[in-house]
This record gives sequence, structure tokens and C-alpha cells, in this order.
Amino acid sequence: MSPQPRKILLGVTGGIAAYKSPDLVRRLMEHGAEVQVVMSRGAQQFVTALTFQAVSGRSVRTDLWDEAAEAAMGHIELARWADEIVVAPATAEFIARLAHGFADDLLATVCLATTARITLAPAMNRQMWANAATQANVQILKDRGVRMLGPASGEQACGEVGVGRMLEPTQIADEIFTTRGAAGPLHGLKVVVTAGPTREAIDPVRFISNRSSGKMGYAVAQAAREAGAEVVLISGPVQIPTPRGVERVEVESAEEMLEAVRRNLVGGDIFISAAAVSDYRAHQVAGEKIKKTSDTMNLSLARAPDVLATISRCESPPFLVGFAAETEHVERNALAKLTGKNLDMIAANKVGAGLGFDKDENALTVYWPNGGKRELAFTSKLALARQLVEVIAERYQASNKTRTFTAKSKSPAHAS
Ligand code: CTP
Repeated sequence: MSPQPRKILLGVTGGIAAYKSPDLVRRLMEHGAEVQVVMSRGAQQFVTALTFQAVSGRSVRTDLWDEAAEAAMGHIELARWADEIVVAPATAEFIARLAHGFADDLLATVCLATTARITLAPAMNRQMWANAATQANVQILKDRGVRMLGPASGEQACGEVGVGRMLEPTQIADEIFTTRGAAGPLHGLKVVVTAGPTREAIDPVRFISNRSSGKMGYAVAQAAREAGAEVVLISGPVQIPTPRGVERVEVESAEEMLEAVRRNLVGGDIFISAAAVSDYRAHQVAGEKIKKTSDTMNLSLARAPDVLATISRCESPPFLVGFAAETEHVERNALAKLTGKNLDMIAANKVGAGLGFDKDENALTVYWPNGGKRELAFTSKLALARQLVEVIAERYQASNKTRTFTAKSKSPAHAS
């Protein structure tokens, strides 16, 4: 696990939100961090280096070609010094340059040269944020493990209303030093959680789905976030608010869920598969609405991908946690899935007859290889999720798995 970031390199790029960045320096310092500010040329049009020097107590770096500053601490040393690089505000232009590997100023060069985590707090006009070029650049960076905080929605400096505002300095600082974050057992780890049902289209208006409410998966995502992890929640269609600090990716089908999991698990440490993924999909999806022409109708189904099993067959899979919702023989079926899908843990519960799906409470029995077992008594799904996350953290530590997932397949994807 990585330690709490103490040395933060704060990059400031040229947007109007830069007027809030001196406050961010103070918020980060309140958490005990040393803050070294690096400003782009554009940023200096909005705030002076002197302001940052006054609040940070360190001389501000602005230029790759500043001989005196380079002699004191060269740009590569600066890149090594930082435990985390935070760029706030991050303009559309900076995001584009970082996505494409430019090293034409000090900040971009340091970002390329660092092995520390990079966090961006984007800020720009809503149309610029929505632009396909910006979105593609953001995706490139996310795929490389860059963390995005925001942007938020609201009134903008240009007078428009929409998504593009920089998060408030206190929110950014809280995200970097989450309440329980540093002390949390999952601090420094990236966790991907799936939740909810999937929908498999039959025709443009119909689909096959199941009764999953997504409540357990959302509670697990929240608990993992509270435990200090960076959490991506891949969600089937459900109406539940996204837990604070969790990144949500919406999908419909099992196929889409698999692709989203593969993509978001890159660089990930733990995969918690709480979704009730359809096991079957329509063999052929009708292009037009199917008409009722006869009294009976046959639907031909084909296997949908098994998301969890597919990930477990990849090279160096992350720590894998499955769920088993069973109507009978809970232990036997759960243990069969634990070994069958090569999991590190499985959380089993009984469903049906008023239990499980769409309820706010539940009970779980957790199993792991070589006979490990823990009962988690009947309680609210959130309380249960918090206990489950404690067990996951314990088992993760014991497993000595420090594998970083790369999404490479060992065997064909999509086998079930
Ligand atoms: N799972 C998955 N993809 C599927 C089916 C299941 O990722 N297509 C995952 C679930 O998220 C869960 C675990 O596999 O973590 C077990 O799911 P479950 O539905 O209980 O079991 P199945 O493997 O589908 O077996 P069966 O339906 O025959 O009980």
C-alpha cells in the first residue's frame, strides 16, 4: 500500500479557476503536506507566482529552462520528489498535451517523468469539457491510471451553466486525504466493483434481465471507498445515487460490463464482482420490434460472457472476490464457484423467499481457499459491506498479491 501523500506537487494551469488554487495549497498543507507549486505560462496570467510562494513557503517553479532553479532541483528530481502530482485546475489544453505525451514545459515534463500518482481537477467551459476530443483525451489518461476529480456542475465563469467547474479546494483536499483514507485498510489500492443486473436486448424494446437491485454492490463500493481505496463502480441499470468519491461507469449488457471491467481494472488491485450478470443473451437480437404472430414463441439463447471467470483467466489477475446468490445448497454451490472461477474469496447468501434481492438487509458467509470461512450476521447491507471490506482487506494482505492487472488474456476471452 502506498503511504499517505506528504509531498505534493501542485500543478496550476491557465484557467480562471486558478484563483482558487492558492486556497488549495492551504487546504493540502492543513493535512500536513509539503506543497511544491509548478505553474504553467497560462496560469501566470491569472495568479502570480508570488502568491503561491507566500502560501506554500517554497519558491514556485515556472520554467524548464531556469538554470538557477534547475541547479537547485532539476526537473527529474522534482518528478522523483513528489508522492503525488495534483493539477488543479487542469485545462483542456493541458489534458490534451498530457494525453499525447508532450514535454514542452516544466509541468508536462515532470508529469511524464514521474512514477507518482497523477490527479487532475479539470476546469473548463462546459462545451469544451463535452467536446469529443477532450473526452477522448480524458479516457486515454484514465486508462493509464490518471485520477480525475470532477469537474462539478454549476454556474461557470463564462456565464453558462453545466459540467466544467473545478471542484472546491476543500473537496479536492478531502479526496486526496479521505477521512479514513490513510488509516483505511484499502488505502493506496484500486478496487473495481460491479453491481446491479445486466440487460440483454431481445429487440429494440425488450430485454432479458433479473431482480438484482444493485444495493449490495453499491454498499460495497461505498465501504471500499471509506476504507481508502480508489473505487470504480461498473453498474448495470439501477436507480441508486453514486456513493461519494466513487467513479461510476454505466453499462447495460454482460458484454459491455466485461469490456468496462477490463478497461477499468488496468492497474487495479482488487475486483469485487457483485453484479447479477445475465448468463444468457438472445442468440440474435431482432432489428425491429417482434410482432405477436403466433400463440407460442421460442427464444433462442446463447451464453453471455462470464465477467468474473474471464478476468480470472487473464494473466496476473487481481485479488478476486465473487458473490454467490443461491436458493439452495448455499455452501456447496459457493465452494464450487470459489474453485471453479479460481477466486480468492466468495461471499454467499441465500436468495428467494423474501431474502436477498431488493432488500435493505442481508447476511453473508464468506469462504476462501483452504477452508477459510467467516459468518457475517444479518444486518443492513451497508454495515455488512463494511464488514466484508474488512475481511477482503485482511485476506488481501495475507495473500501477498501485489499483482497489477494488465488485461492480457491467457486463454480466449468470452468463454464462460
Ligand atoms: N458472474 C459474472 N458473469 C456472469 C455470471 C456470474 O461475472 N455471466 C459472477 C457474479 O458477479 C458472481 C459470481 O460470478 O460474483 C457467481 O455468480 P452466480 O450468478 O451466483 O453464479 P453463476 O456462475 O452464474 O452460476 P449459476 O447461475 O449456474 O449459479
